[in-house]
Amino acid sequence: MWGGRFAAGPASIMREINASIPFDKRLWKQDIAGSKAHVAMLARQGIVSQADADAISAGLDTIAAEYEASGVPVNLDLEDIHMVTESRLAELIGPVAGRLHTARSRNDQVATDFRLWVRDAIDEVEAGLIGLQRALVARAQDHADAVMPGFTHLQSAQPVTLGHHLMAYYEMVRRDRSRFADARARLNECPLGAAALAGTGFPTDRHMTAAALGFVKPTDNSLDSVSDRDFALDYLMAATQASLHLSRLAEEFIIWASQPFGFVKLPDAYSTGSSIMPQKRNPDAAELVRGHAGRIMGCMTALCMTMKGLPLAYSKDMQDDKPPVFEAHDLLALSIAAMTGMVETVTFRTDRMRGLAESGFATATDLADWLVREGGIPFREAHHITGRAVAAAEEAGVPLDQLPLDRLKAIDDRLDDRVYAVLTVDASVASRKSHGGTAPDQVRARIAQAKEELG
Ligand code: ARG
Repeated sequence: MWGGRFAAGPASIMREINASIPFDKRLWKQDIAGSKAHVAMLARQGIVSQADADAISAGLDTIAAEYEASGVPVNLDLEDIHMVTESRLAELIGPVAGRLHTARSRNDQVATDFRLWVRDAIDEVEAGLIGLQRALVARAQDHADAVMPGFTHLQSAQPVTLGHHLMAYYEMVRRDRSRFADARARLNECPLGAAALAGTGFPTDRHMTAAALGFVKPTDNSLDSVSDRDFALDYLMAATQASLHLSRLAEEFIIWASQPFGFVKLPDAYSTGSSIMPQKRNPDAAELVRGHAGRIMGCMTALCMTMKGLPLAYSKDMQDDKPPVFEAHDLLALSIAAMTGMVETVTFRTDRMRGLAESGFATATDLADWLVREGGIPFREAHHITGRAVAAAEEAGVPLDQLPLDRLKAIDDRLDDRVYAVLTVDASVASRKSHGGTAPDQVRARIAQAKEELG
């Protein structure tokens, strides 16, 4: 294809290092779409005849049907998806195929194909994340007032509701979706027609190809058009963030499924047994989601490293842009599906959660708040008094709300029997009505809004 200037063919090792067809065959649909838009424009601008354009377009349709039926042939001699397709086109329609590459280069071609691919990937992720949000909202609604211990430092802190806890992940996914939406909006400009790097002397209409491919407009600088991979990095950075959230949720399920916690029973469908210990039910799917987050971040780092030292415009290093994006996308799609499945089917052991919430002095803050509210005591002093009450309860081996009144009075005379009303876990969560707080009423209100957001 570029043989004119060369006397000898490439060494076989050169052929191997140069070829991207083993992975960029994944771009075939986008490559055909880009070529069809390009040749339609060439015809309309009178750069190729309508008859030639029709022959090229029909040939591309035939090739698409072939790829669909039997995959893209991997021929290292032909280097990449662009050349594999063009050479098949020449087999099908003869030398007229050579007119397709007028007024473009593989540099703008691959930039266009890859943008189209990443745009589709974003749409697929968006659909997956919506599914995950729906699952979270449904389970949160079932458990809007199920009390569990809330943790800081993984130590029992204050009671919260399971619905509130699950809705925290809804908010994370909402931000993930907005990052992908930002990435999509920034990506949606068409580099096709920038040609090799400097634009073209042919009277092309870049607005026409941009519109045909669903882009908002053509890109505005031909050098930037062929050298920019921000869209791939935006995707990988958004994917990294999303995978961190999935990994944190996975980690919670792993902890919750452990025997000492026993907060959940993971579904059989997402667990494995041990070949040696018959009692085991291992949270493999969750562990792999946690592991995949590391690999996705690795993909993001890989492309940052590829791009960081490149001068304008195109360098062949940039061919390495695709494997990390493809890998990250496959891992992310799988992770989203696995976490959605787990959220939908996990069994929450709400009795166990409640039992632990009641046993960990989790309402100590409520006692201190009561002293502030009813006794007019400064919070720091109330904190101190409460600390003594907790110590007394610990010594007596009872939860705070079962400590006898005379014991409480011995600590501070301003305590009276009204305080018991705030010491139950249900009273504690019900009282936390501040915006975004864990009170079941607040949680239900946010769930109702979330359902509207999801449509
Ligand atoms: N396979 C190449 C890539 O993925 C296509 C662009 C080739 N351009 C070039 N000037 N060699 O980057």
